[in-house]
Amino acid sequence: GHAVVPSSSLIPDDPSVLLTTAGMQQFKKYYTGEADPMKDFNSLNVCSIQKSFRTSDIDEVGDDSHLTFFEMLGNFSFGGYFKEEAIRYAHEFLTSKEWMGLDISYVTIFKGSDMVPKDTESENIWKSLGVADVREEGMGDVFWGPTGASGPCGPTTEIYCTNANGKDVEIWNIVFNEFLCSGSREQLLAGDAALTPLEKKGIDTGMGLERLAMISQNKKNIFETDLFAPVIQAVDSRVAQYNPHYATETMKRMIAD
Ligand code: ALA
Repeated sequence: GHAVVPSSSLIPDDPSVLLTTAGMQQFKKYYTGEADPMKDFNSLNVCSIQKSFRTSDIDEVGDDSHLTFFEMLGNFSFGGYFKEEAIRYAHEFLTSKEWMGLDISYVTIFKGSDMVPKDTESENIWKSLGVADVREEGMGDVFWGPTGASGPCGPTTEIYCTNANGKDVEIWNIVFNEFLCSGSREQLLAGDAALTPLEKKGIDTGMGLERLAMISQNKKNIFETDLFAPVIQAVDSRVAQYNPHYATETMKRMIAD
């Protein structure tokens, strides 16, 4: 029942960021109440596959699961549904044989801070769905946003699946947008920004298409998926013309990214 919205441009209309970093970027104004989702989408719930570019993990590119450019699958709600449905939908989509048919290895929930209480509600929802391994994390890992100079943000719950190397990789991040932050993420982490509750609580989720492909195709890394394997092959054949010993696996992955 979600309205399907096309990816926005990598060049955002939000002047506080240089490039689009997440699916929620184009929807910021619906969380804050500046725009009306019913008017624009005829629904409070939307989904998208967003082209995203992140430099925050640029030093990890070349490992098994990080990219600068990737596509983010997301479902979003602007006052339509909240934790119970968002977690249930994610669980169903990942584990149901009808959809992805994958195993969830563990999930994380927000352990609480001096500003925001522990997310026991999400913990209970996961346990009621049969996910026993629920781990607690803090502001650094499971509190998302805001993007740019200020904006919506909130605690998250992250879903991990195991790849063919036996490594647990975060597949999906479900954000409970409950607050408006007066400053940037850096200011928030430094204790220099205020959080005020949003009038309408929102859902913002992001699942990495490339990571999902890695898990569902049972690969050891994203570069072995059908999305990247041809690119790596093309890089290999070029490298072979020059000095095959010069290019490391990491270098080839960086070029593929
Ligand atoms: N906006 C959240 C993220 O990018 C879902 O992880």
